[in-house]
Amino acid sequence: MLEELKATGEAALADIAAAADGAELEQLRVRYLGRKGELTLLLRRTGSLPAEERPAFGQTANQIKKKLEAALAQAEASLAGRAQGPAVTAGVDVTLPGIKPRRGHLHPVTQTERAILAIFERMGFTVVEYPEVELDWYCFEALNMPPDHPARDMQDTFYVEEQVVLRTHTSTSQIRVMENTPPPIRVVAPGKAFRRDSDATHTPMFHQVEGLMVSEDISFAHLKGVLIDFVHQFFSPEVPVRFRPSFFPFTEPSAEVDIGCVVCGGGGCRVCSQTGWLEILGSGMVDPNVFINVGYDPDEVTGFAFGMGIERIAMLKWGINDLRMFYDNDLRFLRQF
Ligand code: DAH
Repeated sequence: MLEELKATGEAALADIAAAADGAELEQLRVRYLGRKGELTLLLRRTGSLPAEERPAFGQTANQIKKKLEAALAQAEASLAGRAQGPAVTAGVDVTLPGIKPRRGHLHPVTQTERAILAIFERMGFTVVEYPEVELDWYCFEALNMPPDHPARDMQDTFYVEEQVVLRTHTSTSQIRVMENTPPPIRVVAPGKAFRRDSDATHTPMFHQVEGLMVSEDISFAHLKGVLIDFVHQFFSPEVPVRFRPSFFPFTEPSAEVDIGCVVCGGGGCRVCSQTGWLEILGSGMVDPNVFINVGYDPDEVTGFAFGMGIERIAMLKWGINDLRMFYDNDLRFLRQF
């Protein structure tokens, strides 16, 4: 019977060590130490032993009982600790570096816009912003685009009302700033523009930066100096720049500015359509009709203006071939900037 007692004790200890939770421990307490528990029943049989064996048996039984009670209490405490989570479990190395929370950053279009503006601000230009919903006057009429001008075609322009449009370009800012301020003027105006267009190089909403400098004796040489300096600061001092004659209703003469292809270095590739050049902006000397429309005297002042697409410049800078990626909000794309 003494052997049976010891075996029962061993089995009970093993069961307690393997218990997974408090409920299981309670079951074990009942099974071994309860009123009809295995150990309890063995103890009741002490009387059936020969008298000289009884004290040793009783002593051993009490020791085993105490051991089991202690083991149950300890198992209970350690299971309760584990339930609170790993922080209180021994073995956590608190000197290891923590998990870094992910930080957001500015959208690549915003980053590009700010980089462009910073260069012009260093040249003394002031940043101004004007409405995205505009009167026909600011978007077309005052910019020397009469009512039958093709740029007003319903294909291109979002109309809110007959005389109210979503601005198709930031050139509206030229009129807005000049009608409110006497010359001299030196501003850059960033913002959204809208056109009914959607493919790999056009989105219905895009961003532009407009520039305007007006004073006495501003010449095409000033235009060239400012824009060449801008290109060299934004892209690199080695990039070739050329001015190609063009037409815009609100400038005369007009020029588009090309830079040597940043992908192939001028040799000709798919991005520059084998020409070696990439167009980056439109510019020109402010048309005298525009000055008249804002109440300036074209015999007193001259000026130049320019406008560039921010997404287009960002695409060239980073070699992105689909404009729509800026607006898909795919984090795998955005996290690269
Ligand atoms: N507004 C023109 C466009 O959206 C760009 C432009 C061309 C702006 C010539 C100018 C300029 O200020 O002088 O395509």
